[in-house]
Amino acid sequence: MNTNVSKKIYDFFSLHEKVAIVTGSGNGIGKATAKMMAELGAKVMVCDIEEDSVKKTVEEITASGGVAIGMYCDITDVSTIKKTVDKCVDEFGTVDILVNNAGTPGRSGEIGVVDREELERVLNVNVTGVFNFINAVVPIMRAKKYGKIVTVSSGAGVIGTGTFQYAASKAAVIGMSKGLARQLGREGINVNVVAPGVTRTRMADDWEFEEVLERFYLVAEPEDMAAAITFLSSDCSRYFSGQVISPNGGDYMF
Ligand SMILES: NC(=O)c1ccc[n+]([C@@H]2O[C@H](COP(=O)([O-])OP(=O)(O)OC[C@H]3O[C@@H](n4cnc5c(N)ncnc54)[C@H](O)[C@@H]3O)[C@@H](O)[C@H]2O)c1
Repeated sequence: MNTNVSKKIYDFFSLHEKVAIVTGSGNGIGKATAKMMAELGAKVMVCDIEEDSVKKTVEEITASGGVAIGMYCDITDVSTIKKTVDKCVDEFGTVDILVNNAGTPGRSGEIGVVDREELERVLNVNVTGVFNFINAVVPIMRAKKYGKIVTVSSGAGVIGTGTFQYAASKAAVIGMSKGLARQLGREGINVNVVAPGVTRTRMADDWEFEEVLERFYLVAEPEDMAAAITFLSSDCSRYFSGQVISPNGGDYMF
């Protein structure tokens, strides 16, 4: 075996010395992503609206030898985003990777029951929140002609499952990412999407897992999504941009 070649391949996956911000990393997919990235050598900014969860994620990363700091950050509030990005640059020097993971499910109900206020609430977190964060990090990435932006959408954005307002928001970030990939590609910034299928976090309902098991032999864990997000954040995926990867056990194909 040519060990030089395998070392180079491994290096492509490494996040050594990379600086990553993962939104909504207090729980679920974001937490698994922050931990996986730290294991691969990244310095991680953990941020979320749940301060206790932020603390716990940071503690778990540092206890296992990784490097992480945490901040309260609401992605609908540009002032907390600015504080988070500034703190990340102060502590770690830059931002290489942004994972837009924070999201909210919609309140269930039919049109007529779900009102415009609820639609706007979901869009404000899942679409405007993603825009807010990208807007805050792009100048840093542009200046060094390097950046990886990965946004967590959902299968709902492709096949319309979940609530309609959630599906609308998750479709919107796929379009936004494709548009930004076209704008930012020449500046060394890759913009991609992970669209998870049903994943075992508090956001999914138990009945959804039973349905998945009727179609596939296993249910997704947060780490299954973290692996796809981490791949799209590494130099292994340097020729991916404007793409949607959907780990969903073959539930839907596009
Ligand atoms: N679990 C699934 O089956 C599934 C499927 C498809 C997509 N997703 C998407 O994956 C992402 C992560 O969800 P999860 O399943 O890990 O759920 P989760 O509830 O475990 O994690 C979501 C995190 O986002 C945080 N958050 C919510 N609003 C925020 C805001 N305004 N600012 C900052 N943080 C905020 C929450 O506090 C929480 O820690 C979401 O975007 C979700 O839509 C999940």
